[in-house]
Amino acid sequence: MNLYGRDLITTQEWSRNELETTLDLAARMKRDRFADNFTNILQNKTFFMFFYNPSVRTRQSFECAATELGGHAQFLEPKSMRLKTATSAGETVEDAAKVMSRYAAGLGIRILEDQVSAYGEGDNLLREYAHWSDIPIVSMAHDKYHPCQGLADVMGWSEWYGRGPGKGVDPVVLQGKKLLVAWGHGALARSWCSVQEAMLIGSRLGMDVTLAYPEGYDLDPAVVEWTKQNCAENNREFGITHDPREGYHGAHVVYSRHWMSPQAYQNGEFLKKQEIEKALHYPDWICDGEKMKLSDNGIFTHPMPIDRGHEVTDEVASGSRSCIYDVAENRLHVQKAIMALTMAGR
Ligand code: CP
Repeated sequence: MNLYGRDLITTQEWSRNELETTLDLAARMKRDRFADNFTNILQNKTFFMFFYNPSVRTRQSFECAATELGGHAQFLEPKSMRLKTATSAGETVEDAAKVMSRYAAGLGIRILEDQVSAYGEGDNLLREYAHWSDIPIVSMAHDKYHPCQGLADVMGWSEWYGRGPGKGVDPVVLQGKKLLVAWGHGALARSWCSVQEAMLIGSRLGMDVTLAYPEGYDLDPAVVEWTKQNCAENNREFGITHDPREGYHGAHVVYSRHWMSPQAYQNGEFLKKQEIEKALHYPDWICDGEKMKLSDNGIFTHPMPIDRGHEVTDEVASGSRSCIYDVAENRLHVQKAIMALTMAGR
């Protein structure tokens, strides 16, 4: 298998074998973090990080990843570049992508929430960069998908249900486990990328998936359909409930996270204030100790940043069955593996 030059826009577009190879390398890089054979993989190479939106984990983990592989990650903001937009003249994606390809070994892009005016616009932009560039395009979270997060999620869950964090990854342990993706009320209007990626990769790896959300918070129907198909191909179950408790029964991995409604974008505008006001009307949609007791001794997972007190209680987020910091750490290791596999050797 050769992943050199491959884009990563969603894990759904990589084969299961490619995902498992990436997870296996990430686990080896975690176990033997500064081994000589890893520390010069990106020597003399630069990874461009193009951030339309803010970030803590993604920027930090990509910078550390590039450093640990012997390369460099350069932070770029669109406001400091003269790019063409719907309302202003400037450089086209074709020109920007072709020039960036002459400098860097890879390009990461983050664009979501208030930086798009309709769902899917961010995904279109990444695909336009992928079309014109000669280097791999990696989603660093966009309006539809968050593949680096999805890989870090399943790495963390596999560690918890396997030999433990840092002791290797065997995704087979996730087969037959139940993933609950539950909407959480919240004061942030979040994009669908993280939860959609988790549903896709969890179902690819043989998990049962239950989606739980109040009426009116449907996710992308195409992603739901893919998740159903992934479950069917693995002889696993997929279900949707609009009850805040029902989905917890028998769950092994509980993913409680707020997401915006399909009405968030209207006439080219992102209605953030309206979304937040609406979401705060569902106080029962919080992951707490009482609901976790309904699960099968489940673990709590979240991509972070967490809206504590809305999406989840402190008791659960900081409890003994929370894997949030292991998953956050795994962002570093999976991104090192992605960069090594797709960018090394250029
Ligand atoms: N999970 C995640 O992408 O975190 P940041 O928004 O802090 O990068």
